[in-house]
Amino acid sequence: MVVDITGLKVAISGGFGGIGQAICKELLEQGVPCLAILDLKEDKDTLEVWKKSYPTQKIFFEYIDVAKRSVVEESIGKAKDEMGGLDAFVNCSGILQESVPELCIQVNLLGTIYTSLTAVNLMGKHKGGNGGIVVNVASVLGLKPCHPFAVYSASKHGCIGFTRSLSHEFHYNETGIAFMAVCPGLTKTKLIEYPENSGTFDYVKEEVAKVANVAGQEADICGKNIVKAMQTGKNGSISICVCGDLREAAMPDDVEG
Ligand SMILES: NC(=O)c1ccc[n+]([C@@H]2O[C@H](COP(=O)([O-])OP(=O)(O)OC[C@H]3O[C@@H](n4cnc5c(N)ncnc54)[C@H](O)[C@@H]3O)[C@@H](O)[C@H]2O)c1
Repeated sequence: MVVDITGLKVAISGGFGGIGQAICKELLEQGVPCLAILDLKEDKDTLEVWKKSYPTQKIFFEYIDVAKRSVVEESIGKAKDEMGGLDAFVNCSGILQESVPELCIQVNLLGTIYTSLTAVNLMGKHKGGNGGIVVNVASVLGLKPCHPFAVYSASKHGCIGFTRSLSHEFHYNETGIAFMAVCPGLTKTKLIEYPENSGTFDYVKEEVAKVANVAGQEADICGKNIVKAMQTGKNGSISICVCGDLREAAMPDDVEG
């Protein structure tokens, strides 16, 4: 199945971040009629450029802090009202913050949970909506361990577990919402401009430096691949976006209990 995204009203959180901007540009290039960019801070210059480049498409900013449930509900609700509907939600907010585990979990994991729950309530067929698509930007570090960034890795494992659980056909039959996670590998954005002391413990700083020396993929190609994954509309897909490639992850389904 290929989802025709030219008719979709899309909201994206973290839309002014490195990967978020790349997703927004690709969505606008592909012709989405409405794009609500939700973030902690408005990037007025970028918004102005996009409004001039895509004059027939409605683009606007709405404040969100994904770590706060009531703010999430208000922000996505406002975006839906402003667009006259909501067909797809992309959660691309995230931080790499080992020194304050609570914050890392709050933004990366609870943020994913809050935005997803809100999107279900606003788009779900069980609530009189039309269904839709939710894309959660996780990480390859949600599929494999990462010893220098253990808290971040745990938060992203949680995102994948939550997304896969909500993609179960029991939910899908009720809501008509396809849930998918995308897992970028190292990508050149502000997120990976970490200082030496940004690992889980002081003693991992040399390991952090090693990661810092690995060349990441460009955000633009990552954004294009995320939109490509979204266009498959495949409920439950976990897509890996690494080194400019896109492929689906094989997930273990043989665990009993
Ligand atoms: N850059 C990488 O190597 C990489 C790899 C894998 C996954 N990711 C994931 O991709 C996503 C985007 O990251 P990025 O690389 O573009 O980083 P980035 O720092 O450029 O962007 C992160 C975005 O999240 C927003 N954000 C942070 N805290 C927030 C909050 N409380 N509420 C709302 N928004 C908040 C920021 O304002 C920013 O727009 C994140 O989930 C990140 O974990 C990044």
